Amino acid sequence: MTTAPPTQHATTPRATAPDAPGAPPRAAGTDVPTLSLRGVSKRFPTGTTALTGVDLDVTPGEFVSVVGPSGCGKSTLLRLASGLDGVTGGEIDVAATTTSYVFQDATLLEWRSALKNVELAGELRGVPRSERRAAAQAALDLVGLTGFEKQHPRQLSGGMRMRVSIARALVAEPDLALFDEPFGALDEITRLRMQTELQRLFELKRFAGLFITHSVSEAVYLSTRVVVMSGRPGRIVDEVEVPWAYPRPPELRYDPEFASLTGRVSAALGEHS
Ligand SMILES: Nc1ncnc2c1ncn2[C@@H]1O[C@H](COP(=O)(O)OP(=O)(O)OP(=O)(O)O)[C@@H](O)[C@H]1O
Ligand SMILES: [Mg+2]
Repeated sequence: MTTAPPTQHATTPRATAPDAPGAPPRAAGTDVPTLSLRGVSKRFPTGTTALTGVDLDVTPGEFVSVVGPSGCGKSTLLRLASGLDGVTGGEIDVAATTTSYVFQDATLLEWRSALKNVELAGELRGVPRSERRAAAQAALDLVGLTGFEKQHPRQLSGGMRMRVSIARALVAEPDLALFDEPFGALDEITRLRMQTELQRLFELKRFAGLFITHSVSEAVYLSTRVVVMSGRPGRIVDEVEVPWAYPRPPELRYDPEFASLTGRVSAALGEHS
């Protein structure tokens, strides 16, 4: 899941992504996209075309949500971005040293404690024990799980398991963080709480984020930009910029301007599904 050791500067906001080996040279005064898709298509051997002609950039400090009808290719898009699967047309460039992936299910190892789940990536990379333990503890503190380090996943609620999963993703200080409907299985109250938490973490860490969701209000609340996809084969049919700075108060959801943005996204979804 991750490829580089965590840095010592856990809370320093990042203005730009570090240059990865082989990354394109940085143009003066501009941010190189951390993730760039150009004319990306994906056709599976079964004959299903999941995506067609997708152009999408995510620059450092951007949090982009993707909404679209079920089966339009959102998870496929994320898998392609992560390198778990390959494109059949177009190109993907990733200028990230470290990419993390948060799945819909928390996908924790049941026999390891919360702390040891978060430590795992560091362990696999050979990060010294005390260093990886300190980083894992800091990540658990950040997601509000101080005191739950020793609990095993089955002893945690769904929301807490998801927090562990997010701590595990963020402990490696990713430049690019990919989320596939991480809050889909949570009850509404926990989900709203997790949204508040995630945008606070985004404010601290300023990774480039790509977030898949079925919830239009979740997309608007979390993101700097919302991308709307058509029904399969998925392509991008609309983009809506979200203006508010972070951190965003939970009450933002009651703002008339917020309702107007969710209305625009919903209308685009309705037109193209
Ligand atoms: N490995 C695969 N082989 C063949 N077809 C696939 C494969 N993975 C996905 N598909 C097909 O590609 C299309 C897009 O699937 P994908 O999982 O990306 O949709 P999605 O937008 O994430 O849907 P949902 O919102 O329900 O999660 C679907 O028709 C699916 O059946
Ligand atoms: Mg999916």
